[in-house]
Amino acid sequence: MKVLGVLGSPRIGGNSDILLNQALAGAKEMGAKTEKIVLSRKKIAGCLDCTKCNETGICVIKDDMLEIHKKILEGDAILHSVPLYFWAMTSQMKAYLDRWCAFFDGNWTWHKAYAPKMMGKKIGLITVCGAPDVHTSDPIVHSFRETCKLAGLKLLPPVQVSAYARGEIDKNEQAKKKAFQLGKKIARF
Ligand SMILES: Cc1cc2nc3c(=O)[nH]c(=O)nc-3n(C[C@H](O)[C@H](O)[C@H](O)COP(=O)(O)O)c2cc1C
Repeated sequence: MKVLGVLGSPRIGGNSDILLNQALAGAKEMGAKTEKIVLSRKKIAGCLDCTKCNETGICVIKDDMLEIHKKILEGDAILHSVPLYFWAMTSQMKAYLDRWCAFFDGNWTWHKAYAPKMMGKKIGLITVCGAPDVHTSDPIVHSFRETCKLAGLKLLPPVQVSAYARGEIDKNEQAKKKAFQLGKKIARF
């Protein structure tokens, strides 16, 4: 079992980072091999909608996303952790998600070569927002939920928390526990 963690916050040691580490620790406890990608340390351009990947299954943009595409294909589960920026996911996470386009043909169906690896893959999501109501980050959940529905991915119940200052979530044992449990759950076959 391979679990890939994807951090959508540029704030290293911040709230999303802390919770992603918790979730990956949970997955590790279940015996999973884990790897973490920090999107802000990667070069990931936005999708160009050039439609070349509809034929080839390979993105024309030669940046770090090509390597991440491979890791996504190899992973049994992908865990995302991202803060809310202006009622949406961060630009780093959005650029990453848009580049999933390369996995699909012109009808938003997995390319034949990818379908066996992608269908039913487990997706985890942790969101952090500064506002006290954790549902302020629902637009991010909506985006992931609909994408997973479209693509036949299995989105686990998301963990949504509220925290504002850098690292503040470290004091929230309940949030850390929830993230740890998500990691354990996603690593279960
Ligand atoms: C550019 C920017 C926009 C933000 N927009 C929102 C927002 O719309 N709603 C909200 O509740 N918090 C917002 N926040 C606060 C962050 O979601 C919050 O500080 C969060 O804890 C950051 O997570 P991190 O430590 O993982 O980076 C924003 C923060 C930044 C830097």
